Amino acid sequence: MVPFRSLLYCLASFAAVVQGSVTVYYQIGQEPLATTTAAGAVFTGLPAYDTRILNPPDLPNPMPAPAFTIQLQNGGTPGASILQGTFFGFSIEMSVANQVLGKNSSLIEVPFLNLISNLVQRSGHVRIRVGGNTQETAVLVDSLPNGRMIAKDNDNTSNPTKTPPVDFTTDLLYMMRNISELVNVRWFLGIPFFDTTNWRLEIVEKGQQILGDHLLGFQAGNEPDYYIRHGHRPATYNPYDYFGEIGDLINVIASNPNIPNKDCLIGPGIAAGEWTPESVWNTGFVDSYSQQLAYLAVEHYPLDNCFSRYGTGTYRDPQANFINYLTHDAGKGIVATFLNTTAYAQTKGKEVIMFETNSASCGGLPGISNSFGGALWGLDYALQMAHSNFSGALFHIGGQSVYYNPFTPPPTNETGYHKWSVGAIYYSALIMAEALGSSNGSQVMDLQANFGNTWTPAYAIYENGDPVRVALFNFMTDAPGSTAADYVATISIAGIGGGSATPSSVKVKYFRAESVGYRGRNMTWAGQTFGDFFESDGRLMGTEDVKTVQCDTVVMTCAISVPAPAFALVFLTDSAFTATGDHSAGYGNGKGELGASIETFPTTVHTKMLNTATVERAILATSNGMINDFGSTSRGSSSGVVGWKEILPSVALLTSLVVGAMVILGRF
Ligand SMILES: *[C@@H]1O[C@H](CO)[C@@H](O)[C@H](O)[C@H]1NC(C)=O
Ligand SMILES: *[C@@H]1O[C@H](CO)[C@@H](O)[C@H](O)[C@H]1NC(C)=O
Ligand SMILES: *[C@@H]1O[C@H](CO)[C@@H](O)[C@H](O)[C@H]1NC(C)=O
Ligand SMILES: *[C@@H]1O[C@H](CO)[C@@H](O)[C@H](O)[C@H]1NC(C)=O
Ligand SMILES: *[C@@H]1O[C@H](CO)[C@@H](O)[C@H](O)[C@H]1NC(C)=O
Ligand SMILES: *[C@@H]1O[C@H](CO)[C@@H](O)[C@H](O)[C@H]1NC(C)=O
Repeated sequence: MVPFRSLLYCLASFAAVVQGSVTVYYQIGQEPLATTTAAGAVFTGLPAYDTRILNPPDLPNPMPAPAFTIQLQNGGTPGASILQGTFFGFSIEMSVANQVLGKNSSLIEVPFLNLISNLVQRSGHVRIRVGGNTQETAVLVDSLPNGRMIAKDNDNTSNPTKTPPVDFTTDLLYMMRNISELVNVRWFLGIPFFDTTNWRLEIVEKGQQILGDHLLGFQAGNEPDYYIRHGHRPATYNPYDYFGEIGDLINVIASNPNIPNKDCLIGPGIAAGEWTPESVWNTGFVDSYSQQLAYLAVEHYPLDNCFSRYGTGTYRDPQANFINYLTHDAGKGIVATFLNTTAYAQTKGKEVIMFETNSASCGGLPGISNSFGGALWGLDYALQMAHSNFSGALFHIGGQSVYYNPFTPPPTNETGYHKWSVGAIYYSALIMAEALGSSNGSQVMDLQANFGNTWTPAYAIYENGDPVRVALFNFMTDAPGSTAADYVATISIAGIGGGSATPSSVKVKYFRAESVGYRGRNMTWAGQTFGDFFESDGRLMGTEDVKTVQCDTVVMTCAISVPAPAFALVFLTDSAFTATGDHSAGYGNGKGELGASIETFPTTVHTKMLNTATVERAILATSNGMINDFGSTSRGSSSGVVGWKEILPSVALLTSLVVGAMVILGRF
């Protein structure tokens, strides 16, 4: 096994290479691309880069109490969730996988790897689904023109979301495999479900063969409750028909010798729009197919923006709807529909995944989806799902034409001079990963704080029965300079069998912006940011700012102030802090693989790479936002990373460089 330390060196090289490209690029005047297309200019037009800033809602009347207590208990708390592992993942529309993940199996997007690596450091692994509406008609072909991995058939669109059918090659699967070799990603795929007579199971055959243990399962049917509305089934189609189709699929898989793991299905994947979950459970779905069902899944968006995008449904005014995302009731309202389902699943020994979700279907809402308020919404919603016994949630990533992407590569016509854009929902993912940590055994509990006030929710996260972290939200936005809407939460912990277990001090990280409407670099997590549109290489920028709060050791309480608006993550123990990434401590918690950070690589690695690797301008001009080749390099010495200088001059592709280095470093 390759030691994780080696992987860190590899990632350090990513970092260094990306850094190098910045250096090359921003030499405006020497850089042909930069002079021809105004480097750094933010173009308008595409929803992913919408700059709208909404006004925050008025302060509530009456105001929530400005101070409240949170009494926690060591040794087990009734009502806490089932054990949680990695929770917050992503759903990538299949047709844009070649923009987000990489161009092909040997050209993987470096910013993507960095973004996932940030999460892996905090939560151990990340689950990603490649699918969506486009999986339903996807065809595995032997090859595509120009060596492409995915081709869209734009003339042949279906669904209100105009998602085109895709052709793909096995290189997509190899790329996913290659990604998993670099960062710990586990994948979900989907089985085309529009033709249930001639099942197209090549994706299952090749997927299992190529992805092996990195593959978690295959969704069978994407939003079947919308099949009638979208014209894919006759008007009589109902949950029993779906039940029958799954039975057929199971039979076909059973007799397919090229599918070794037959217990890999995920369903029903309903949008819970037309069908209730119960209407599917009542068919006997879970009992009948228990053996073959790897996970249960549902999908849901709290609102749709289809009118603005496609002229169907109801117009949704972003400003008027903003407040609906800025309370604890927002997430609770979505989850309420599924409480019976998560309880039912527990009785059947199944995990429920929110397989595709985000702020609004048909691309999200301008000014909401990508705002600080949107990030708070995503985080509260994710914690609420964890509290409610979901076992994971996948936030959807569309292309350039949606508002809600956690991260977006630059449009292909601008990759030469733009970096990636990290959206609000990525901050939700990052903070959720830190809140739950990497134990695989955390429990989440909605504390009904402040008498259940919807503007000031709080959660506790437990490990081995003891509270380890507390999550505090303040959804309100106050006038600049005013502290009227700030609050103080006073935390105490009761020990097992009486007495106090309140620590003498706690660490706190704040997620902040001046207004819920703000976005981009005006949004900071512990003082750090991913910047504005087109500014990110996938790593946090700036210096991390972690507060230490001294507790009152006489009355045994810790008073945490939470400004309006803000989120605060309180680490109740030192190990709760380091387990999710003490970013100053390098290799972290002694487990060897977690709590380390890309930002803290030995600077010698950065320096050497910067000095020895340059990126050819012609390649920047044609790359899809990634660094796909090296120009001139010179040999140099660098202690501890002997492998680099030996292979650097000759490598052609970044990913092979990294894997090569892993192998070489692994021998030391
Ligand atoms: C890139 O393409 C998008 C979408 O067609 C367009 O809005 C944008 O202006 C283009 N950028 C440049 C620099 O031409
Ligand atoms: C990936 O794309 C690059 C550039 O188009 C090409 O040189 C390379 O051969 C491709 N790799 C694979 C595995 O297709
Ligand atoms: C909960 O789900 C079960 C199983 O499908 C069903 O029998 C029951 O009616 C549901 N309860 C509610 C309140 O929907
Ligand atoms: C989650 O599951 C646990 C364990 O079964 C249970 O105690 C708790 O009430 C459930 N939470 C919700 C919100 O349903
Ligand atoms: C958590 O679960 C994942 C997936 O099952 C596993 O790979 C990992 O080793 C587990 N981590 C710990 C700390 O148990
Ligand atoms: C990625 O996948 C290709 C298959 O196309 C394989 O030949 C190559 O060695 C892999 N690259 C890395 C870096 O693992």
